[in-house]
Amino acid sequence: MITKTIKFSSSSTTFYFAYGISHLKDIVDVKHTIFIINENVFQQHAKHFKNQQTITIKSGEQFKTQATIDSIIKQLIELGADRKTTLIGVGGGVVTDITGYVASVFMRGIKFGFIPTTILAMVDASIGGKNGVDVGVYKNIVGTINQPSFILHDLIFLNTLPEIEWQNGFAEIIKHACIKDAAMFKALEESSLKKYQQKKKLLCFLIQHNALLKSKVVQQDEFESGDRKLLNFGHTFGHAIENTYQLSHGYAVAIGMAMACIISEQYQNFKDTNRVVELIKRYELPVHQSYDAKNVIDVMKADKKKIKDAINYVLLKKIGKAVVQSIPINQIENIISQLEAENSFS
Ligand code: GLY
Repeated sequence: MITKTIKFSSSSTTFYFAYGISHLKDIVDVKHTIFIINENVFQQHAKHFKNQQTITIKSGEQFKTQATIDSIIKQLIELGADRKTTLIGVGGGVVTDITGYVASVFMRGIKFGFIPTTILAMVDASIGGKNGVDVGVYKNIVGTINQPSFILHDLIFLNTLPEIEWQNGFAEIIKHACIKDAAMFKALEESSLKKYQQKKKLLCFLIQHNALLKSKVVQQDEFESGDRKLLNFGHTFGHAIENTYQLSHGYAVAIGMAMACIISEQYQNFKDTNRVVELIKRYELPVHQSYDAKNVIDVMKADKKKIKDAINYVLLKKIGKAVVQSIPINQIENIISQLEAENSFS
């Protein structure tokens, strides 16, 4: 068990790594806690939540909406939640987003923490304080920035993790390696999904390393005016196709990273697209999706990374070194239209 506290501008998050969920009672007053849980996780791990106040939510990005928020708020009122209540989100990225958002707006803000149950949520979604909901195909267009007071990792939840969720989690790990950590990129090239599934210690180290990598980037730029933007690598194109083509987040980011490499070749003279594409494939993730360029551009135009007629695109200079470049939307439109008919990486 390792604990680590990361201080942010006006609050801090304590990580409880490799902690059993049974130790939760040492961290929060469970009598004044309400769990917001993914329904599959609840069914598979019900014994951990016996006699607790729980609200279950359905799996899937399609439920990350204002309607779900309203329903949870009604249930919180029925359960007698007040300003002393702590909300704990137990699940993947949809649950952490919803819990952080509800906790930020309910009674103008109450305490919250997370028990992420997917790799993606452990290394990414639970960290950073940005929590919100989608409106139609527009991802995370509404939300808040508020840090969770704690994040507890219990790897027991990974025993029931579906295969696709392993792939999704590794998309964000590959992203971290591409933008910040050439040594991790090399280690990933020399390993595989199977190896991490079999070697729990290796996995545990990788998860902690990635959680801290992200936390440090956020700590230095909580409100995303600088380096934090790099975490959006693969997300501009990724978010534009995710809901339109009903892709999982990791798949969309993987395809987005491959696209960002092509754009990096043109704008940053990036030479290692092939290595990135091969690594993405090694972790059983896709690098291509057929798309309608006009649709994709329309969604991109509503992206939070668009400023006037340009998009702040995250590109790679080399593996482990990313930069943000403002690219006029008409130039992105040309590239995306040009690549539309090609199946560039298959
Ligand atoms: N909750 C994800 C982030 O803040 O980046």
